Amino acid sequence: MSVAISISGVSKDFRIPGSKRRLRAVDNLCLEIEKQTVFGLLGPNGSGKSTTIKMALGLIRPSQGNCQILGKSSLDPAARMGIGYLPEAPYFQRFLTGRELLTYFGKLSGVPKSELGGRVVRLLSRVGLEDAGDRRVGGYSKGMLQRIGLAQAMVGNPELLILDEPTAGVDPIGAADIASIIRELRDEGKTVLLCSHLLSQVETICDRAAIMVKGKLAIEGAVESLTAASESSSARIDGLTTDARKRLEAFAKEGQLKMSTHRRSLEELFLELSKGASD
Ligand SMILES: Nc1ncnc2c1ncn2[C@@H]1O[C@H](COP(=O)(O)OP(=O)(O)O)[C@@H](O)[C@H]1O
Ligand SMILES: [Mg+2]
Repeated sequence: MSVAISISGVSKDFRIPGSKRRLRAVDNLCLEIEKQTVFGLLGPNGSGKSTTIKMALGLIRPSQGNCQILGKSSLDPAARMGIGYLPEAPYFQRFLTGRELLTYFGKLSGVPKSELGGRVVRLLSRVGLEDAGDRRVGGYSKGMLQRIGLAQAMVGNPELLILDEPTAGVDPIGAADIASIIRELRDEGKTVLLCSHLLSQVETICDRAAIMVKGKLAIEGAVESLTAASESSSARIDGLTTDARKRLEAFAKEGQLKMSTHRRSLEELFLELSKGASD
């Protein structure tokens, strides 16, 4: 079995308070995420990414369709074993220190007592919090909270990690650190589902990506093919004098005029697909 997450015909409607109308947050979504890949789930704010993740995790029920995770229905609590999750807005017990927090989540994920202490020390260092492990989480900056959140998702040594905007509010150094941890996780054979708005980073760390717009899947594919060179390229030069034009033609004939095809960035594709769709 090589599929880590399977989302089949999934829709989610939310009731709008004080109204009989419903809002379709996710609309007939089908998506398969292969094991041992880093998959980027992208889309403007409000496009349904977090709702999709919560349905895949079995935290909320789809209105239609079904999700499977590591071969089990997402509604089966056993499916959640083997998954690490960093929520979009993690809420951690403020009075715990970073070390206590990781120890607590490690116990919840069933890490044997004999391994837990050493693992917590290694994780604190891996996310760059070795000097802050004994400070209370309530005093952590936004960047430190994302780092401890990532460590929390990794503490049970899960096969699959679901990270909802791990770099939100993190400075460029922190974001680069998080990217290199994600690359290491892939090298260790883990599967990572990642939501992020850092599109240039997604382009370098993800194998495949999907862009959602207004609850629907707009495009999905290997990052390389999504950003493939556009098929045609053309150039136009206005205002050339006759003399300049003749020189340009001569240059072209002699092979001195070099043309390169434009490789579309993920950011350009994102902007093109999601015009005016942000919340
Ligand atoms: N619990 C909820 N109740 C009502 N509406 C919700 C709820 N959760 C999300 N939504 C709405 O669903 C849409 C998709 O939200 P979300 O999945 O959080 O988007 P994204 O993560 O892509 O920014 C938004 O319009 C949001 O307001
Ligand atoms: Mg979200």
